[in-house]
Amino acid sequence: MDRFIIRGGRPLRGEIAIGGAKNSGLKLMVAGLLTEERLVLTNVPRIADMDTMRALLLQHGVAVEDVKGDGGTLSIGGSITGTEAPYDIVSRMRASILVLGPLLARCGEARVSLPGGCAIGTRPVDLHLKGLEGLGAQIRLEGGYIHATAPKGLTGDRIVLPFASVGATENLLMAATLAKGRTEIVNAAREPEISDLVECLNRMGARISGAGTGTLVIDGVEALHGAEHRIMPDRIECGTYACAAGITGGDLYLRGGRVDDLGAVVRTLEEAGVEVTSDAEGIRVRRTGALRGVDIMTEPYPGFPTDMQAQFMALLSVAEGASMVTETIFENRFMHVPELNRMGARINVHGSSAIIRGVHGLSGAPVMATDLRASFSLILAGLAAHGETILSRVYHLDRGYEAVEKKLSACGALIERVRE
Ligand code: UD1
Repeated sequence: MDRFIIRGGRPLRGEIAIGGAKNSGLKLMVAGLLTEERLVLTNVPRIADMDTMRALLLQHGVAVEDVKGDGGTLSIGGSITGTEAPYDIVSRMRASILVLGPLLARCGEARVSLPGGCAIGTRPVDLHLKGLEGLGAQIRLEGGYIHATAPKGLTGDRIVLPFASVGATENLLMAATLAKGRTEIVNAAREPEISDLVECLNRMGARISGAGTGTLVIDGVEALHGAEHRIMPDRIECGTYACAAGITGGDLYLRGGRVDDLGAVVRTLEEAGVEVTSDAEGIRVRRTGALRGVDIMTEPYPGFPTDMQAQFMALLSVAEGASMVTETIFENRFMHVPELNRMGARINVHGSSAIIRGVHGLSGAPVMATDLRASFSLILAGLAAHGETILSRVYHLDRGYEAVEKKLSACGALIERVRE
C-alpha cells in the first residue's frame, strides 16, 4: 500500500492539465455493451476504476483495446458472451451496476451482484430496479445477486424517479435506447456526465432528447452502431485543483477545465475569497487575500456537488470565521473530519451538518484516506499545513485521480509517493 509524504506551506503556481472525467468515462465504457460494433473513446483517464471497468467488460466477453498503447484511447467491441457481473468486481466498484440495463436490453437477461454498502453510505439500487421493471424486466433477488430477465425485450414507459439519481438515470437511459417505443424519464439527473453519455449514445444511433433538463425522452431503436467520442473533462478533478490553489494561496491555470460544468463550485470559491476567471482553454484560479467562511449544502446538479464537499471542508478549515457544511446526498460522508481535526482543524459534526471554525493554520500529521474525495481533502490540508503529512491508503486516490503527485509537484508542491 503506497503512502504520500507531503511537506506543506508552499503556494502552488503553474498549470495543471485536467483529464477525462471518471464519472463519464466509466458509463461510456458500459455504453460499449450496447453495440456489436466498435466504440472508440478518447481522452480516457488513466485511473484504477477504468481498469476495473475494463476487467468487467472482459468478463462479458467484450474486448477493450488500448489503441495507442498509452491508455488514452480505448476501443471497445465484440459479442457479449457472458451476462454475469460477479461480486468481486461489483463490490470493488459500484458503477459496475450500470451494466445491468445495457445487458438486459442487448441480451434479455443479466445477473449482477448487489453492490452492498460502501464507506460513504448504504447506497441502495432500488430506483434502478424499479425503473427497469417499468420497462418490462422481471427482477428477482437471490443469493446476493440481481437476476433480471426480459424475454420479450424491453418496452418504453414513463418513469418518474422520486430522487434524481445519477446512476438510475444512466442505467434506464442506456436500457431504453434499445426498448420498443418511447421512454420518458421524469426527474432525471442533470449532471454534465449524463449529457456526455447522451451525446455519445446519440452518436451511436440512439434517439434521445432533453439532456441537461429534468426530462429525458428516448425513442427506442433496433440497434446501435459504432462511434468515436471524446470523454468530457473531469469537473471534480478541476474543482479539486481549484481548491489546491485556494488553500495554498496560489495561482493555477487548469487547462481543459470548463467553468459551465462547475456549476455552484465557482460561486462558492468566489464567496470564499478565491478568484476564478476563464477563457476558451481553461480556468485560472488564484487567491491573494484571506479565505472567508461560507455555508454549503450538497445537492444534485446544478447544486453544489457532494463529490466536492470534502475538499471544501479542508479549504474552509483555514478560512476566517465559521462555515456550515450540510451533506444531503450521502449519509456518511464526513469521515475526513476526524483526520482533518488531527491536523488542527476545528470541525464538529451534528447529524448531516458540520460546523467548521476556521483556524490560522494546520499542522502536518499521519492521516488515513477513507474514500476517494476524502483522500484529496487530506492532501489539500497537507499542502497548506506546516510540517510533514503522511497520507496512507493512497489506493483510494488512485481509483479516481490520475498522476496526482506529478501534477502537484510540477506546480511547486513537495509531495512524494513512497511504495511499501
Ligand atoms: C454518482 C457518482 C458519485 C456521486 C453521485 C452523486 C459515479 C460513478 N458516481 O454516484 O461520484 O457522488 O453520483 O452526485 O458517477 N439512491 C437510492 N436508490 C437508488 C439510487 C440511489 O436510494 O436506486 C440514493 C443513494 O443511496 C444516494 C443518492 O441516492 O444517497 C445519490 O445516489 P446517485 O445519484 O445514484 O449516485 P451514484 O450514481 O451512485
